[in-house]
Amino acid sequence: MVDPDPNIALISDIIKNLENVEKLQMANKGAFGKLYSGVHVIEQEKYVIKILTFSQDFTIDDARNEARLLAKLAKHHHPYIIKYKDTYLTKTCLLITMEYCEGGSLFSYVKEMQKKGQFPLDEKFIQKILYCCLEGLNFLHSQNPPIYHRDIKLANIFLSKNLEIKIGDLGIAKQL
Ligand SMILES: Nc1ncnc2c1ncn2[C@@H]1O[C@H](COP(=O)(O)OP(=O)(O)O)[C@@H](O)[C@H]1O
Ligand SMILES: [Mg+2]
Repeated sequence: MVDPDPNIALISDIIKNLENVEKLQMANKGAFGKLYSGVHVIEQEKYVIKILTFSQDFTIDDARNEARLLAKLAKHHHPYIIKYKDTYLTKTCLLITMEYCEGGSLFSYVKEMQKKGQFPLDEKFIQKILYCCLEGLNFLHSQNPPIYHRDIKLANIFLSKNLEIKIGDLGIAKQL
């Protein structure tokens, strides 16, 4: 399918891009899609590829909206927002390549800390989470036009290897 939106690449680009990724492996299965992780051969950075297959709950129009939004964010990185790289729209799915957050989501982190008996979290760390989320949201809201995430929750806030906070999953975000 040839899409008129220049931000949305063709399947051949996907294949070219995936050739630069080694050790692709299933990392997780979210509500709608599958997640693969791999290392970008040239950039030597770890990336994930999220594959969202179209369904009644995730239509091609939802995919176009998400792809356009992420293409904008890919141009302006912010330290507290997941770094998005490329989006690819095919006949059946949307592929998103983005930075890998090795610490997983805050939701799974909290569950893990509860299991270890290390809950509530350290107050300084909670302060850091709040600060980063507010700064990240402020960045989204200060875009022109503003971007509203609309789904802020522990499962959509991620942790990098060094426990840096990153807002992710802009699946239902809106740019007004
Ligand atoms: N960039 C990422 N790095 C590491 N894990 C991720 C990343 N993005 C998503 N995940 C994992 O996949 C799960 C679902 O991702 P998410 O983007 O919230 O999709 P959805 O909620 O639409 O299924 C997360 O809870 C997390 O475990
Ligand atoms: Mg989510």
